[in-house]
Formats: sequence, structure tokens, C-alpha cells
Amino acid sequence: MTVTEDEPEPLTDSTISTKPKYECLEDLPGVGPATSKKLQEMGFHTIESLATATARELEPAGISEKKALDVIRLARGSITLSFTRADELLKQRQTISRLTTGSAILDNLLGGGLETQTITEFYGEYGSGKSQLCHQLCVDVQLPVEQGGLNGAALYIDTENTFRTERLVSMAEHLNLNPEQVARNVIVADAYTSDHQVFLLENSDKIIKQNNIRLIVVDSLTSHFRSEYIGRETLAVRQQKLNKHMHKLIRLARAFNAVAVVTNQVMAKPDVFFGDAVHPIGGHVVAHTSHTRVYLRESARGPVRIARLVSSPYLPDGEGIFKITINGIEEVEEGESKGRR
Ligand code: GTP
Ligand code: MG
Repeated sequence: MTVTEDEPEPLTDSTISTKPKYECLEDLPGVGPATSKKLQEMGFHTIESLATATARELEPAGISEKKALDVIRLARGSITLSFTRADELLKQRQTISRLTTGSAILDNLLGGGLETQTITEFYGEYGSGKSQLCHQLCVDVQLPVEQGGLNGAALYIDTENTFRTERLVSMAEHLNLNPEQVARNVIVADAYTSDHQVFLLENSDKIIKQNNIRLIVVDSLTSHFRSEYIGRETLAVRQQKLNKHMHKLIRLARAFNAVAVVTNQVMAKPDVFFGDAVHPIGGHVVAHTSHTRVYLRESARGPVRIARLVSSPYLPDGEGIFKITINGIEEVEEGESKGRR
């Protein structure tokens, strides 16, 4: 997927091999204290976020398009991020890591866990387990790599006030992790409106960098947008905002090699009598920007949930089951899975 539309010119071998390292905005040639201040006010606090910006986005800082392109190019050169040749792209893909869900079946369905640098979307009805999975991932991300974690922290943007530290504690105890430590490594941001949600993500780069955040959760991606933008005439604006928001998320995920997870509700399809009578909200924007989409639904067996991989750039569609218990997301034992789907 192309994230940046107005790319600076491709990097050559010499720019790749002699790239300088810049630590903060003011280290960049041509960025003085005033521009740096403006950029930071606009949410660009780190070299990583500048490296994934477009020239148009930097315009409000009062810099020319040419200067913006220069700054972006220097920032990109500084942090192994922007490659244009296929062999280099392959190198970038090799830096992708995977995060366990706590269920081997679900991990297998996802090709070995949730991958960094892309967006994974979990959608489903009320109580299907979206938020529980997000909580579990916040704990799992802290595990060492050998145990399926990323040895990092989590950022949780909570739009529905459903984040509960108590759940992290139960899940951490089950994994023999120190619950206090686990809770300290999860940074929660309550988003009160869609604008606030966008603002929080736009300004999260510094927090992500300083706290070694390797998982960014937006739970739920769409609830505010859905309740604030009612009626056909507001749809275009809503979709535009949602698109920009998701692209910011992709850029953060790529810049910090983090897993990005969003949750999404479903809407009934009034004209469908057989098969899936629901579809995720957010239309084409969410459908095309989420790299991996997983549909969660309840089963006839209480805690057992069914996950269906609906869309992935390279994996076949498929289904798997897991269960939600006091311990978190767990494997379904032999015999437990029988029952009507
Ligand atoms: P919405 O956000 O309302 O769309 O739903 P969701 O998909 O986020 O659902 P959520 O992840 O909150 O799942 C809620 C379900 O998880 C509950 O109905 C319970 O079945 C289960 N659950 C939540 N907490 C616990 C717990 O502490 N113990 C057990 N055993 N199950 C739990
Ligand atoms: Mg939820």
C-alpha cells in the first residue's frame, strides 16, 4: 500500500549508505527553533513522524513545498524507513514482527500472530470479544519475543470507556507477569469525540517513542464517527476524516515497527436473508485501509468465539475458535468446541 502520495525523489544507493542520523527536529538542516515549534504544535514531535508525513501536511507550518520535501527526505534518510527498490522493500518486510493473541489457533489463522507495520481490524457485534482481545494484546506485547511478545508497551485509545485495568491484572497473573508492571506499561487515552480521537493519535508519536510502544489500539475506531456523522450529507466528510486517521495509524505503525489494532462494529444488512447478515461499518475507507480484517462472533458455547479471517494481503480466508475466560483469551480444549456455530 502506498502511504505517501507526494513522495520525495527516490533514494539512491549513496543516500542510503551515507544517511545521517538526526535525533530531534532541530537537528535537521533547515529546521530552526520556530519551525520546530510549529511542527510540534501540529503533532510532529519526532523524526519518525516527519519521515512518514506528506509535504501537504507540513504546509501549515509555513514552510515551502520544496523545503517540506527536503525535510521529509532528510528525516527518511535518517531512519531506515523509506525504500523504493523492491530488494529494499523486502528488507523492510523482514523487519516485521508478530504478536501472539494468546490462542495458537487464532495466531495460525493470522499467519503466526498480528504483524507489525500494518493495521489489523477486529469487527463484530456487541460482546463478540473485540475489547477483550485488545486487552489481551496489551499484556502479550510485553512478553519477550520468544514467548510471542514484542518486549514493548501498549497505547490504548479508548473511545467507549470500556478499558479496565482489572482485566489486565487477571491476564497478567495468569501469565505469571507482575500485574503492576504490566499496568504501568499500558498507556490509556480516553477519546471523548472523533476530533479528540484524531488529536490523540496525531500527537502520540513522542509517547510512542519514549515508552517503547509496540502496540497501538484504537477501540473502537468508528463509534464516535458513527454517532457524530448522521445523514448522507455528512458521509463524505466523515470518510475523509476516517481515512486520514487510519493513514496516520499506518504511518505510526511503520515508523515504530508497531502492531496497530482497531475495532469496529457491524451493521445489519437489511436485504440479506442467508449467510452473513451483517457488515462492518466504515465503508470502503476502513475496508481498504485495514490490511487484515477479522470477523468475530459468538458461538452457541458460552465463552467460545469464532474468528473468521475475512481479508488479508496474502493469507487464505479461514476460521478458528478461541474462548474468553477470567484468564483472558485462551485455547479451546478438545470437546469444548462442539456445538452449533
Ligand atoms: P462492544 O464493544 O460492545 O461492541 O463488544 P466487544 O466485542 O468489545 O465485547 P467484549 O470484548 O467487551 O466482550 C465482552 C464479553 O467478554 C463478555 O460478554 C464476556 O463474555 C467476556 N468477558 C469479559 N470479561 C470477562 C471476565 O472477566 N471473565 C470472563 N469469563 N469473561 C469475560
Ligand atoms: Mg468493546
